[in-house]
Amino acid sequence: ATLRVDASKSKPISDKLIGVFFEDISRAADGGLYAELVQNRDFEYTSADRREWSSTTAWQSNRPIVVKTDVPLSKNNAHYAVVAAKDTLYNIGWDGITAAANQAFDFSVYLRNENGEKNQVLVQLIGQNGEVYAKEKIKTEGQGWNRYSLPLVVDKKAVKGQVRLALTPLKEGHVAIDMVSLFPHETFKGHGLRKDLAEAIAALHPKFVRFPGGCMSHGQGLDNIYHWNHTVGPWQDRKPDKNIWGYHQTRGLGFYEYFQFCEDLGAEPLPVLAAGVPCQNSVPNKEGLGGQQGGIPMKDMPAYCQEILNMIEWANGDPATSKWAKMRAEAGHPEPFGLKYVGIGNEDIISTTFEERYEMICKAIKAKYPNMIVVGTVGPFHDPSADYVEGWKFAKEHKDILDLVDEHYYESPGWFMHHQDYYDHYDRNAPKVYLGEYASRTRTVESALAEAMYLCGLERNGDVVSMTSYAPLLCKDGYSNWNPDMIYFNNDTITCLTPSYHTQRLWGTHSGDVYVGSKMSVRPELSHRVAASVVRDSKTGKTIVKLVNALPASLSVSLQGLAIPTGAKVEGFAGKPFERTVVETTGVEVGPKVELEPYSVKVITF
Ligand code: AHR
Repeated sequence: ATLRVDASKSKPISDKLIGVFFEDISRAADGGLYAELVQNRDFEYTSADRREWSSTTAWQSNRPIVVKTDVPLSKNNAHYAVVAAKDTLYNIGWDGITAAANQAFDFSVYLRNENGEKNQVLVQLIGQNGEVYAKEKIKTEGQGWNRYSLPLVVDKKAVKGQVRLALTPLKEGHVAIDMVSLFPHETFKGHGLRKDLAEAIAALHPKFVRFPGGCMSHGQGLDNIYHWNHTVGPWQDRKPDKNIWGYHQTRGLGFYEYFQFCEDLGAEPLPVLAAGVPCQNSVPNKEGLGGQQGGIPMKDMPAYCQEILNMIEWANGDPATSKWAKMRAEAGHPEPFGLKYVGIGNEDIISTTFEERYEMICKAIKAKYPNMIVVGTVGPFHDPSADYVEGWKFAKEHKDILDLVDEHYYESPGWFMHHQDYYDHYDRNAPKVYLGEYASRTRTVESALAEAMYLCGLERNGDVVSMTSYAPLLCKDGYSNWNPDMIYFNNDTITCLTPSYHTQRLWGTHSGDVYVGSKMSVRPELSHRVAASVVRDSKTGKTIVKLVNALPASLSVSLQGLAIPTGAKVEGFAGKPFERTVVETTGVEVGPKVELEPYSVKVITF
């Protein structure tokens, strides 16, 4: 094969091409990235989340657990447990809590003496056979709710199996208990997210993070639309809700935590909020989706638009003049978050119900914040679906209020290999593209190679495709709502960084802002199985050559118009097409020809 490079055909491309898509799907948030170890910490699980769940799910006791609602800690968190002297309330965590000798945890709880003004509560980490690994006492005072926090450190004993968190009032009288929390002391940058997962995401070098969904953003039915303002402030004032993926959202991972995570990653936040319609524009009937069509009533839309403007104010405003910005400052972030992008809508059916609400929201944003980059949507499927056609028509007619539109597609490896030119003929004068969800449908090396080839095409079209994010990002083993995902994990560890993760990491780490004209020539029958892309990063002055070989044979690539200096750094991977792991490769290039193993990727930087 020959790669002919023609620097005269260079063009600027987006420097935000690779980002991540975070959605609370497959237990990505609670029990996942959000490092809280207590499940159902607020006793707010209900059968609406999952038929078999209730306010005592994940809790155990030596007696039936008493849950009350008469003197709630907050109107948004009505339920709490009441425990008698010497009885013990246990939390089993997310199918167990893992603890190791000498490990430190941060424990906190809200307590209220139901009788009398003083009590003591014993807090312990207890093993399967009653072994005590950590213990502390809390003295409760007064009659109202009070927050207590303390470090809980496991002693030197080796911990056998999983532990439970145990709370035991010691003196006569009853104690009301709510918002019971246990975090590992060590979290990513000290901000409450699981270190291993957050570090794996950071290693992708994402230029932006999209959150909170996906379908989570528009929810299942009007009552389930994600309202950002229900997810900020003290934990007890946040509004928990059912998750469209069949479980519960505590909202512990809320907008503040998402924005803080973006800042910790050095990535732009891309919040995506509902366009005034729920999933499929549909208000569910008793059986689930498929009920009556509808969106937020038009009379309530001005308030909904205002809610979105308030979010921008909350993120970027001045605490001295804005009550929303003051909330942000009170939560610990007086400096603005510097929000530049807002997404409106997710894979919506492009109906009149949708369009009138979508237009109203986007207009309201642009009227107040003309520089805000508004990212719209063109429906659930790509070309030639009716939604896609109508979504693009609308976007082209509304260029004044839409800067980018979000496309989604999940396809076979073969589709990606055969559509490397997908964006070559896109209209350069239309709103730009955010490829917000895509993945090749297997968890194999072949998929990772297909995505790598497709990404070469996306870089070549980096003047029309401004942003991309593989989806979904995280999946907890045993709780999959979707397949494949990029990173699999359990309570203790990452169990699989998929081949696709390695593709994303290579493209995220080696991105550029200039596309250097180049063309790969191979025998026509092989052209769908090889790809190349050359970019330059104008900040570092580095040139990056990416080569993909999805053939069962080695490939020798001669470069014309570009000399790779001896000793140029190489990173990449190779594998067997239908396997789920890759072998990472690193080294230096010795040229003048670049040799690629069968089924491999090479990224050369100099
Ligand atoms: O990524 C998983 C789901 O796929 C998203 O929630 C939704 O937008 C799409 O259908």
